Amino acid sequence: MKHSRKEVTIVVDGKKMVCPEGESLLKVAQANGVFIPALCYFDHVDPPLGTCRVCTVKVKGKYTAGCQVKAQEGLEVEVMSPELLDHRKAVVEMLFTEGNHICPLCEKSGKCVLQALGYEMGMDTPRFTFTFPGREIDYKPKHIIMEHHRCIQCKRCVEEVFTDDGKPVFYFQQRGKETVVAVDYEQEARLTYEQAHRAMEICPVGTILLKEDTIDTPGYRKYDKMPISAVSPAVEATLAAPRTESAPEVKKKTVATVSLAGCFGCHMSMLDMDLNLLDLIQLVTFNRSPFTDIKQFTTRCDIGLIEGGCCSDENVEVLRKFRENCEILVSVGACAINGNLPALRNWMPLEQTMEEAYLQSATSDETAVIPHHEDLPKILDKVYPCHEVVKIDYFIPGCPPGADHIYKVVQNLLFGTKFNVPYEEFKYD
Ligand code: SF4
Ligand code: SF4
Ligand code: FES
Repeated sequence: MKHSRKEVTIVVDGKKMVCPEGESLLKVAQANGVFIPALCYFDHVDPPLGTCRVCTVKVKGKYTAGCQVKAQEGLEVEVMSPELLDHRKAVVEMLFTEGNHICPLCEKSGKCVLQALGYEMGMDTPRFTFTFPGREIDYKPKHIIMEHHRCIQCKRCVEEVFTDDGKPVFYFQQRGKETVVAVDYEQEARLTYEQAHRAMEICPVGTILLKEDTIDTPGYRKYDKMPISAVSPAVEATLAAPRTESAPEVKKKTVATVSLAGCFGCHMSMLDMDLNLLDLIQLVTFNRSPFTDIKQFTTRCDIGLIEGGCCSDENVEVLRKFRENCEILVSVGACAINGNLPALRNWMPLEQTMEEAYLQSATSDETAVIPHHEDLPKILDKVYPCHEVVKIDYFIPGCPPGADHIYKVVQNLLFGTKFNVPYEEFKYD
């Protein structure tokens, strides 16, 4: 006869939760809307593996693996303190830096639990130095490839993959930093296709790959859209659990950028922000911009950065759209501010400019014509600076303006951060 387990009350971050005695803390928290990340955890492996420490929580002030904590009366657990959020993020960063993880090239990208946790925790540049280990990829097994660069040594395959007569297929070899998960080739060859496929699914990262097959959805995916059928039901549920309210959501500002009659030099300067760009994308989302390839506004933006002046009716139309859709409009660089090089043609009539450009140039021959089609933008009589077409709120001079300069202005406009502009920052290359 099956006995139902006694109910107990545990306290997670000050919130009471009632559950069966001995229930896994991960499951109880999850059922009550608290997200404790997990990586090596595998539902029916008991006791849990406890190898990754991604689930670290605090019990009685001591760090412990949350997946190994069982519910008992009076248990008090700390899960979502800023210190623990940062601690768990550090563990994920460590796992990334310990191996060689190049997600855009990885077959498991989009179905990888480590990658999902990186997104979940907002990881960008890890605080640890990359170790770039020189590991071999093992192509010798019959069904699978072992991509050792990505192994996090979670032990799932060692504990879970066996032949029909119970022989292990994976085992740990060597020790310390040299530890690798090796394959018993003889036993591996006895696996069926389905068993080998399951081994690939059990691996939470992209280490075990099937030769006969590939992951069906390669490529970059955001966590929110990630299909998670490749992970165990428990981890799938953990990943799908609603995020706790304690995880602060930063309301990002939106920025749009465009190049009109410019050379893209100002956009290149924006990219030159280097690491500041990483700070910036924590704070802002780019909407319509060559950076995103979004061609139409999908929302009203806080700030629009305009490179280049107006030399065609299309430039005018785009600039007006920016004025309509941006709270603050900024002319970035000399072309937007005074027309700059493209405006050199302003001293001669348009007809003469077109003849010079298309009929008289060094590469023109007797077949040359002035392009003319109703689909082509109409060239204006002269090049206009942006503020002569629409109201411009701010100007960032330079050709191109320096990356730091643009960064500081954007920060100032969006967040009121004060700064001085030294004379040297006005740059005309
Ligand atoms: S295993 Fe995961 S984290 Fe590593 S490269 Fe592949 S997708 Fe990225
Ligand atoms: S191969 Fe995959 S499942 Fe096995 S220990 Fe490495 S990461 Fe874990
Ligand atoms: S140690 Fe708990 S999920 Fe890995």
